[in-house]
Amino acid sequence: MKIKIAYFTSTGNTLWLCNKAKEFLEAKGHTVNLYEIIKEHNEFKQAECDLMGFFYPVWGSNPPDPMVEYRDDMSFGDGKKVFIVGNCCALNGDTGHLFKKILDEKGYDVFLTDHLYMPTNFNLPYEPENKWKRVPLEDERNKILCRAEVKLSEICNNISDGVESYDGKSFMNHLAGALQRKTYWMGDGYKSHFSIAEDKCIHCDLCIRMCPINNITKDENGKKVFGDKCILCVKCYNLCPKDAVLICKASIDDEKYRRYKGPNEDIKPVEYR
Ligand SMILES: Cc1cc2nc3c(=O)[nH]c(=O)nc-3n(C[C@H](O)[C@H](O)[C@H](O)COP(=O)(O)O)c2cc1C
Repeated sequence: MKIKIAYFTSTGNTLWLCNKAKEFLEAKGHTVNLYEIIKEHNEFKQAECDLMGFFYPVWGSNPPDPMVEYRDDMSFGDGKKVFIVGNCCALNGDTGHLFKKILDEKGYDVFLTDHLYMPTNFNLPYEPENKWKRVPLEDERNKILCRAEVKLSEICNNISDGVESYDGKSFMNHLAGALQRKTYWMGDGYKSHFSIAEDKCIHCDLCIRMCPINNITKDENGKKVFGDKCILCVKCYNLCPKDAVLICKASIDDEKYRRYKGPNEDIKPVEYR
């Protein structure tokens, strides 16, 4: 089968899963093409396929904003088979189920929704400390990745065999989903608190190149300026090589507010965009 997968990633977890899924599915004789939803949405839209997939990180029991925009803009599905694979650090809620519902209404045939646990990339200042909101150290991160790889291979077997399976439709999933969506606005406050620690910045401009919505620019003195379109993907914050991007002044303490540097070094930050 020809399979096309659209993905969004902030810190590489989703891309890591996509690359593994490509390996697993190609080992079964399929052809898999990956498309980053922001820069390759036209190519994704136009590519011929037998099966279409979406991979995304869960953001407050929704897919990330750019994927929501793409999904809501999709035209009639004409029965096209679709699978949906999300990943999260703690709670996926009913994200996949909701995604499925919307695509089913558009005439797609979503036969599989599933979620995996991946390391968190979301250690924001002033949030209550809990084990899911702590960016893991290498050993713990590798354990999470090993477990995810095992589960992903099962998911890929199901995709390959066309097995129907739906995750995220229980009462508890809906409850968690609804609660997370209701309280998600609380994160908005962070969006206007991005700044640069000038003494740490090495002017590599990676933050500018990585920002998926071009929200970071430079003023006439070369100082970084954060616009008002931030979607809180936290790419710049996590992946700045010097941890010079701050969210609130407290995050100058990068031991307390450890940044997530991605699943491994094979994926370079610029590829995330
Ligand atoms: C804005 C934002 C919101 C998030 N919301 C959730 C959430 O509701 N539930 C959860 O378990 N993880 C949440 N996370 C954690 C990510 O889903 C998780 O770390 C994911 O693996 C990141 O994938 P990526 O590296 O491909 O972006 C959130 C992360 C971000 C940046």
